[in-house]
Amino acid sequence: MSAPPKTVLTASAEEEAAIRAAVRAAEGRTVAGPEHVDGLQKLFLDPRVSDPIYDLPRPFTRESVAAWVAESEALRQEGRCILAVTLDEAGEVAGYSRFTIWPERSSGELAGARRADLQNSGEGRRGVAQSIAWMFEGLGLRLICLTAALDNVRSARAIDAAGFRRMGEVDSLRPDGTSRRSLYWELTRAEWELRHRL
Ligand SMILES: CC(C)(COP(=O)(O)OP(=O)(O)OC[C@H]1O[C@@H](n2cnc3c(N)ncnc32)[C@H](O)[C@@H]1OP(=O)(O)O)[C@@H](O)C(=O)NCCC(=O)NCCS
Repeated sequence: MSAPPKTVLTASAEEEAAIRAAVRAAEGRTVAGPEHVDGLQKLFLDPRVSDPIYDLPRPFTRESVAAWVAESEALRQEGRCILAVTLDEAGEVAGYSRFTIWPERSSGELAGARRADLQNSGEGRRGVAQSIAWMFEGLGLRLICLTAALDNVRSARAIDAAGFRRMGEVDSLRPDGTSRRSLYWELTRAEWELRHRL
């Protein structure tokens, strides 16, 4: 149940249409399809992967994950979501990213995880930075917000390192209606560009 950013931007009709088209194209990403459902379920059944993430389709059955993949794909067709997977050399699902987009607000959010054997490698930090760059440059967004559980030190370090501004805490709503307290960050494209020109 991703919530839009605290800061409210308004996209022009042209900007909104361009964002929707870029989301539908999802260039450079492997969009999750029915062939990835088993791999995603296996990924999420490992609590080291799924425990810190509030908006996954719990409990992790084949049906719940398949429905989530299908729902994400329907939202992609509306320009509102991209569920992407990363595959290892054997073609197994080794991680996922879910981009939630509000095209009318030129804004987006990102959630994701890596398989446990690939965590703590420094790649997570690099992956966050790459995804952020793609959201600004590839999707054309002007604002990104992120949340993480209060005790998720690795995420917080990777998010801080990408230049995000901490803006207090929020209650993140789980699909079952319960809430989780989260740290909250924002980063604008202007801030990100300034950092990358230095
Ligand atoms: C979050 C995740 C993607 C990060 O990827 P990763 O490859 O494990 O992370 P990294 O190795 O890049 O580590 C990130 C930072 O945390 C630091 N870190 C790792 N473990 C730490 C610990 N126990 N205490 C303090 N810092 C720690 C690392 O040193 C690194 O900081 P640095 O770049 O300043 O040195 C990955 O751990 C993951 O999938 N976790 C489970 C799901 C999850 O939490 N998703 C994010 C939800 S917001």
